[in-house]
Amino acid sequence: MSTLYKHEILKKLQQSGEIPVSGQQLADDFSLSRTAIWKYIKQLEEEGYVFETVKKKGYILKSQPNSLSPDKIKAALETAQFGEQIIFEEQLPSTQPLAHQLAQQGAKAGTVVICEEQTAGRGRMQREWSSQKGKGIWMSVILRPDVPPYEAPQFTLVAAVAIAKAIEDVAEIRPQIKWPNDLLIDGLKITGILTELQADPDLINALIMGIGVNVNHETADFPQEIQTIATSLKIQTGKEIDRAVLVARILYYLEHYSAMYVENGFSPIKKQWEEYSCTIGQEIKVTTLREVVYGKAVSITNDGVLKVQLPDGEIKHVISADIEIKK
Ligand code: BTN
Repeated sequence: MSTLYKHEILKKLQQSGEIPVSGQQLADDFSLSRTAIWKYIKQLEEEGYVFETVKKKGYILKSQPNSLSPDKIKAALETAQFGEQIIFEEQLPSTQPLAHQLAQQGAKAGTVVICEEQTAGRGRMQREWSSQKGKGIWMSVILRPDVPPYEAPQFTLVAAVAIAKAIEDVAEIRPQIKWPNDLLIDGLKITGILTELQADPDLINALIMGIGVNVNHETADFPQEIQTIATSLKIQTGKEIDRAVLVARILYYLEHYSAMYVENGFSPIKKQWEEYSCTIGQEIKVTTLREVVYGKAVSITNDGVLKVQLPDGEIKHVISADIEIKK
């Protein structure tokens, strides 16, 4: 049986809340037989959805699994294109290589690779990224922006704004952005972004945007060595967050802000970035591939480059680096 309508049926039942939706109404809405609707309901039940059947009235959705199934994400989507194609796996070494492979095979912009657990999740600078089963969002999104390759790093800043806004909407807590790619709450890391590029010298073929969000971890779920530097939305808010709803919201803002960037550049997004920033005005340590310098983060440019004032007053433009905020 095709699963074409499953997320649409789920969406209707979610939207209807405590008002029952009859099998006949669903059958009419999707031009399906009542038997087909019943089969979809059974499939959903097998996946952990609980329905109350009210005699002669229909189905009420009582509870939903906190899963990342494509149907659950799609039921929450409000995008034009992002998330149309979702590849979900229970376990992957990392979502990045599969997304790279799909991009090379021509996957559309907005294609998502997502999994419950990564066994070899990676961060920037070849660091490990710990990705516990069922606790977070571990996904890679394929972008195909029509901009030159040297603009690719700015998409990390665009994604940071998109994810910050999504977290604020869904978890009702305001994260801060640490240039270029970390989202923090209370100084602890909640999200990392890994932007990788497939490009010719003057043309981006694809950007693979790797996004890791710590969502429903308890402190003990993190490996001991990162327990003092990482946090989760659940630890910070005391609430279990619906990961599929958060994924859908991230895709919504990612689609919105990446289109805005392609049309008008970084400057219209810069103000938003600055409002979330915890970097500007701080004394920082900057580690680039070539050197380590100390100074004050004074601003970012319209191109997303960080301007750092060194102790002798010189202004240094930093395009790519790791920074540490000095207390
Ligand atoms: C960082 O902060 O250094 C970036 C972390 C990026 C983690 C995400 S999780 C999904 C995707 N797959 C990976 O292996 N890494 C990225």
